[in-house]
Amino acid sequence: MNDQAIHILVIQPLMEGLAKKIANRFICHNLYQCEDIDSYLKLHGDKIRGVATRGDVGLSSEIMEKLPNLEIISVFGVGTDGIDLVKAAERNIKVTITSDILTADVADLALTFIMALSRDLQYQDKFARSGKWLTTPPRLASKLTGKKIGILGLGKIGKAIAKRAHAFDMDIGYCDSKKISNVDYQYFSNLIDLADFSDFLVLAIPGGDQNKGVINLNILRALGEHGSLINIARGALVNEVDLIEALQSGIIKSAALDVYEDEPKINNAFLPMENVILTPHIASATFETRQEMAKNVFDNLDHYFTTGKAITDLHLH
Ligand code: DGY
Repeated sequence: MNDQAIHILVIQPLMEGLAKKIANRFICHNLYQCEDIDSYLKLHGDKIRGVATRGDVGLSSEIMEKLPNLEIISVFGVGTDGIDLVKAAERNIKVTITSDILTADVADLALTFIMALSRDLQYQDKFARSGKWLTTPPRLASKLTGKKIGILGLGKIGKAIAKRAHAFDMDIGYCDSKKISNVDYQYFSNLIDLADFSDFLVLAIPGGDQNKGVINLNILRALGEHGSLINIARGALVNEVDLIEALQSGIIKSAALDVYEDEPKINNAFLPMENVILTPHIASATFETRQEMAKNVFDNLDHYFTTGKAITDLHLH
């Protein structure tokens, strides 16, 4: 096989080192630099055998259709909500994700959020800088030990969150499509009961149409005025209009969000809220993890086009 003849479509800019490695090994087509995507794909679409994309970007069905010889989609991340997996399977297109690599970091951010909210970190930091301490005692926060964490989705990331919460002596509940056999956390078969149980409701399910807007006003009412919502999964899981109302009117206490319905745009209503922590989709964004993810994205393409097998093929996990 002449490796030089393998064409890869890159959907969004990748980390510099990864982009270079892909460009050295394959013939690279950077879709994000094209002004007229349709004409570009008309010209080059049938040459493309591999795609490199990000989990939060995926590969739209319209573009996938224009790549008749596509064999593999290598995803930088674990989210596949932006890819039609059924179509991919029908066409025998492999989809690879950076499985396991980012699990710890995402779980760490969930716990960081929980601790920051319970100990009022943003407020205390502002207070310490303001000079108010000279005249006013700091306000009290809320104890974490013994608080209830409700995890929606006990997959790899959900379990890593539970493990960390356990180390902090939290009371752990979860909701999933079925009871998981080898864990003894409290199981809730429906989300509203989990929300009712929770002081901190953490979302750890995939995005996609089936889970769109699962967090609505009813769930937030069940979470209640002492409850906080943590979203390190996908923005589309939450009806943001409902969340904004719940935060503004005290239906829930607080929220910490790493992901948004229309990211990278963040609804302006969140910006002045003091009971909200906002981060720009950085759950996996540590130097070490991103390096490893980049290696995995390249290795999957390289391995597949060398041996016919990908390393972290979604269908094999
Ligand atoms: C993922 O893994 O899908 C993360 O959201 C990063 O894109």
